[in-house]
Amino acid sequence: MTEAGVRLEARSVTVRFGGLVAVDAVDARFAAGELVGIIGPNGAGKTTFFNAISGVLAPSAGRLLVDGEDLTGAAPHRFAAHGIARTFQTPRVFGELSVMRNVDFGLQFAGRRRSAPAALRDADSVLRLIGLAQHAGLPAAQITPSQQRLLEIGMALATRPNVLLLDEVAAGLTEAEVEAMAQRIRALRDDLGLTVIWIEHAVTTLMRYVERVIVLHQGRKIADDTPARVVQDAQVVEAYLGDEIAEPVG
Ligand SMILES: Nc1ncnc2c1ncn2[C@@H]1O[C@H](COP(=O)(O)OP(=O)(O)O)[C@@H](O)[C@H]1O
Ligand SMILES: [Mg+2]
Repeated sequence: MTEAGVRLEARSVTVRFGGLVAVDAVDARFAAGELVGIIGPNGAGKTTFFNAISGVLAPSAGRLLVDGEDLTGAAPHRFAAHGIARTFQTPRVFGELSVMRNVDFGLQFAGRRRSAPAALRDADSVLRLIGLAQHAGLPAAQITPSQQRLLEIGMALATRPNVLLLDEVAAGLTEAEVEAMAQRIRALRDDLGLTVIWIEHAVTTLMRYVERVIVLHQGRKIADDTPARVVQDAQVVEAYLGDEIAEPVG
């Protein structure tokens, strides 16, 4: 990975809550256009790491660089202005507003980037991209949970990001919906050239779609490699994957 291609870099990032070290000196680099998975048991620090790299939480120690600029301690809007967008583990759509108005809300935070890709030009384009165009007029509360997850991704995309952080967007979905979601995520990366960092519990599906996977365990990064190599890592199998992976990943 060349230095020039690095969009986001975490240098020894630590997040403490009182005596608890939720994220423990994590180093990670994310290149332009990469699709990277983050996995690990409940409480491993995955969401907290996202909170740190999107400015929601200031790290207790370490540094965060976005396109080479040091944003350590900056507010979330500054990370957004530098092209970082995210979804939340608990969906945050506005249920009483229409699907279209929810995307409009995201678009209010866009506009900083002069050359928005045509696919992200307006709410209609974003809705087509996430496959919700035919539900544009419905209140968000009336679409399915799976569609609400897509809508959340649409709201994040409407800010015209370079880096998209997805926190368990496939949680609670059926097996077929998880597969469709994974395909959609890869297509978004391919079509928009985004860097996508994707936390998910559906490990076997995730492993088939990402190029690289980071494993967190008790706040520490214990692996960072291709899916094929990570599933053979003794420490990872011991800490986590022994229970999750029933068959080898190709
Ligand atoms: N705001 C908070 N205050 C105190 N402890 C927290 C807070 N957020 C997360 N934690 C703790 O930090 C650890 C990591 O949590 P989290 O990042 O949510 O894990 P994951 O997303 O991998 O399941 C857990 O022990 C959790 O209870
Ligand atoms: Mg989490």
